[in-house]
Amino acid sequence: MLDRDNDLTAWDRDHFFHPSTHMGMHARGDTPTRVMAGGEGVFITDRNGRRSLDAFAGLYCVNVGYGRTEIADAIAEQARELAYYHAYVGHGTEASITLARMIIERAPKGMSRVYFGLSGSDANETNIKLIWYYNNILGRPEKKKIISRWRGYHGSGVMTGSLTGLALFHTAFDLPRAPILHTEAPYYFRREDRTMSEEQFSAQCAAKLEEMILAEGPDTIAAFIGEPILGTGGIVPPPRGYWAAIQAVLRKYDILLVADEVVTGFGRLGSMFGSDHYGMSPDLITIAKGLTSAYAPLSGTIVSDKVWQVLVQGSDQLGPIGHGWTYSAHPICAAAGVANLALIDRLGLVDNARTTGAHFRAALADALAGHPNVGEVRGDGLMAAVEFVEDRDSRRFFDPARKVGPAVAAALLERGVIGRAMPQGDILGFAPPLCLSPDEADQVVAAAADAVKAVLG
Ligand SMILES: Cc1ncc(COP(=O)(O)O)c(C=O)c1O
Repeated sequence: MLDRDNDLTAWDRDHFFHPSTHMGMHARGDTPTRVMAGGEGVFITDRNGRRSLDAFAGLYCVNVGYGRTEIADAIAEQARELAYYHAYVGHGTEASITLARMIIERAPKGMSRVYFGLSGSDANETNIKLIWYYNNILGRPEKKKIISRWRGYHGSGVMTGSLTGLALFHTAFDLPRAPILHTEAPYYFRREDRTMSEEQFSAQCAAKLEEMILAEGPDTIAAFIGEPILGTGGIVPPPRGYWAAIQAVLRKYDILLVADEVVTGFGRLGSMFGSDHYGMSPDLITIAKGLTSAYAPLSGTIVSDKVWQVLVQGSDQLGPIGHGWTYSAHPICAAAGVANLALIDRLGLVDNARTTGAHFRAALADALAGHPNVGEVRGDGLMAAVEFVEDRDSRRFFDPARKVGPAVAAALLERGVIGRAMPQGDILGFAPPLCLSPDEADQVVAAAADAVKAVLG
């Protein structure tokens, strides 16, 4: 009989170039291949029948949980009816037009149109082009630089990888590229001056931003991009007063705000959008992951009335916009989006993210905040992180070479729960499906406490 598992492993080593993977170790067989096979609710199962509670929802994207037949049926129906037609020159499908409407109905005030893409990265790429186009149409050809934050994550492309503020995504790729600049991360726990209050730290972040704008010349700065809560950079909620202070600076110099809501859009923080959650008034919003709960690849740029008016002016001057993807508004993905957003409403998942999220974070803090190697337990909604330190009082971090974060994540997996060792720092991250129940939250916390004990005592 064919030993299919072993063949798959061999084929994987020989032919599959995995993203975000140690290429040599994997090809040599030093890291495991895990072949995922099925899922239901918050649980995922591999081909060996090993079941794990996925407390990171894939890559914080399977928001409605696994195995939702409503979405699978919508995809199948659309594929049978019309698998594809493009969206160029005014074409659409019932699914893509309906989805655009559903997004605008849920979006923060002042939003007007949705441009569809396939990934968070390409949606941010669209944002950059729209920002440049906008300033060209307004007769400001010098106003092109975009400020991002250290520890921000905005994608892996050439320009979006430049927006990302994590060393791993730059090293040996000749990134970041001009005209992208990075300012201070709003990471209160890692502030230099420990006597500062959150408000003082926020004011300092805003002052550093203003300093950068003045040094570069306000007429050269087009936009500022940020995730409402830092995600891949460590799951770090903004310190009190942060977004108010930043937005005051942006308004002063006529700089657009892009809210990258790839993770936070559609409920993860217990509000439909992170922008509403933290009082942000963005000009552009990036969405992806939660839009379809990853049942099909789909992203979008939500364009505000203010930007839309200028884009229309551009078309009136220059003709149709020269920006398009073959798969923009792909009918199958749009059908998945419509079914997904309807399901989020029907199951009350935004409310559940708020209530179960609060339960989960409180339980996590109860279980771990007192551990001598836990510097901070933090989060918001259904996003949480535990940051490890070698010495709590002096806030001395572990030597990264010890890989404490990955060791705790591995110990957690042995206990049947998937968390994520965040890429910069010893940080264990959680972002479970929004359908997590309080009991399942307790299982995650118990496994996490046990894993920390196993690794750190
Ligand atoms: C905030 C944010 N923006 C953009 C992206 C990039 O999305 P994608 O991986 O779909 O290109 C991610 C991915 O994790 C993200 O977290």
